[in-house]
Amino acid sequence: MCGIVGYIGTADAKEILLKGLEKLEYRGYDSAGIAVANNEGVHVFKEKGRIAALRDVVDGSTETSTGIGHTRWATHGVPSQQNAHPHQSSAGRFTIVHNGVIENYEQLRRELLPHVSMISETDTEIIVQLVELFAKEGLTTEQAFRKTLSRLEGSYAIALLDNDDKETIYVGKNKSPLLIGLADGVNVVASDAMAMLQVTNEFVEIEDQEVVIVSRDNVQIKKLNGDEVSRDSYIAEIDATDIEKGTYPHYMLKEIDEQPFVIRNIISKYKDENENIKLDEDVRTAVTQADRIYIIAAGTSYHAGLVGKEMIEKIAGIPVETHIASEFLYNMPLLSEKPLFIFISQSGETADLRGVLVNVKKLGHPTLTVTNVPGSTLSREAEYTLHTHAGPEIAVASTKAYTAQMAVFAILAVDAAQKRGVTMEFNPLQELAIVANAMEIFTERKEELEQVARDFLSTTRNCFFIGRALDYHVCQEGALKLKEISYIQAEGFAGGELKHGTIALIEDGTPVIGLATQPAVNLNIRGNMKEVVARGANPCMISMEGCEDEGDTLVIPRVHEYLTPLVSVLPMQLISYYAALHRDCDVDKPRNLAKSVTVE
Ligand code: F6R
Repeated sequence: MCGIVGYIGTADAKEILLKGLEKLEYRGYDSAGIAVANNEGVHVFKEKGRIAALRDVVDGSTETSTGIGHTRWATHGVPSQQNAHPHQSSAGRFTIVHNGVIENYEQLRRELLPHVSMISETDTEIIVQLVELFAKEGLTTEQAFRKTLSRLEGSYAIALLDNDDKETIYVGKNKSPLLIGLADGVNVVASDAMAMLQVTNEFVEIEDQEVVIVSRDNVQIKKLNGDEVSRDSYIAEIDATDIEKGTYPHYMLKEIDEQPFVIRNIISKYKDENENIKLDEDVRTAVTQADRIYIIAAGTSYHAGLVGKEMIEKIAGIPVETHIASEFLYNMPLLSEKPLFIFISQSGETADLRGVLVNVKKLGHPTLTVTNVPGSTLSREAEYTLHTHAGPEIAVASTKAYTAQMAVFAILAVDAAQKRGVTMEFNPLQELAIVANAMEIFTERKEELEQVARDFLSTTRNCFFIGRALDYHVCQEGALKLKEISYIQAEGFAGGELKHGTIALIEDGTPVIGLATQPAVNLNIRGNMKEVVARGANPCMISMEGCEDEGDTLVIPRVHEYLTPLVSVLPMQLISYYAALHRDCDVDKPRNLAKSVTVE
């Protein structure tokens, strides 16, 4: 959550910072600000709300080629102009932007700054006040900065300006993502490469507990004790056009439509020249040597993990448990003797997962991250990584990353089965190609899905999704999608479970979306649907060819039984999208959310 940027070069810093923040808005969008430096001093512009609101308050006439910026998802202190970053020290010498959470800020304030009255309610302000305190004690800015960071507990990606030296940006990192971008006579700072592709595609990764002294012509990385570190740069393989909306009204719709291409891309990335599965031998060994796999994830990725569990157990015969990261972190179950931990994360930055990763690494267990961002924290810190190759996902509600995660799990499961000598008919690469075609058919049925959203969801205040087996997990994802972008209260239920209490909520006209793609439980789910209809529900049945019945609202093309979630989720995504549109909701940036959840 929160995104930071920095620029020191020769062009107009304001515009570059604002454009960078627009690319980072997915990380938080309740307030934003920039600080820019010129001969007259450091000028701060900040505003509650989106970057568009910030643009309105930035004085376009301020000439500057150095600055820092921030887009916020509030943790400490309400979203307001006062709590928006940048924050300044009391004497105004230092200005800071910060992504992360300082856990010991209260303690530091009491211990070191008892007489300083804080201007904001944020934990961030303590950092800038401490730098000023240590600088007043006679330390250089770099020394004061390093001393401050060594006192902090928690997570941070920080950029700091010094009014007495406007030719330098001081940067620090611990647990929150941070990159330095390099160009000729220009250097930049960003939480995510996407923000600064406008300037460069050459980046250096910064590691935890490092500081960076950034000037126009130089980037110096140091440990907190002052020892210099040297690190090679890399070229970010992101095409700037991948992060544009193009002709689409929303990123979410674009990303829904991209799913067939994503699946075909995954097939090509995981196929060798003999049309067999191509996978790193170390990953293969790690999976097949495990006596139990623990999948750790959050939100939509957790829902993909529930499907992943079914695939690995049913296809490869390895026992799997899927856990919500934030629960596992403080309530670890008994582990097997030879566990493998798989972390599923679109962003690769989710703090709850990282907490688990750090803990299980301490216990010496092997770790694998399945992510859409290979250079991300979880990817770098786990032993192995599998890339989901979905391309940048900008809409806060995840769509293509979810289907990509499940596709990679299908491949992983079959690969493990083959390595364990299990014979099977199921060829995931061929079957995924069929999935891509089926997805394409569905993305062309938008008018029909818009009508379904209108018929069932325009005015309702709640909605239930019911399914059995794999369909149950898709229903959980369908409900999450609907509630996060349309704010309709929605729940995904196991079809057989509803009658054990929740059926009491069914009233005349309550929409119930049923999913029937699993032949083994087709009759059962249809029975459950009858139970709710008998109590007045407005039924919307989505089935798959082979399971269809007269009167079903939508029938999806047939794909292999294990892969049905990849297709059956599409109507759910599209129905949610149109329900949100009909209700005038901000589809790409739903309230209270952020795409990359880097706080616990
Ligand atoms: C919902 C959504 C979230 C994320 C969750 C975990 O549409 O995207 O539920 O799945 O915050 O994020 P990642 O996958 O980045 O770890």
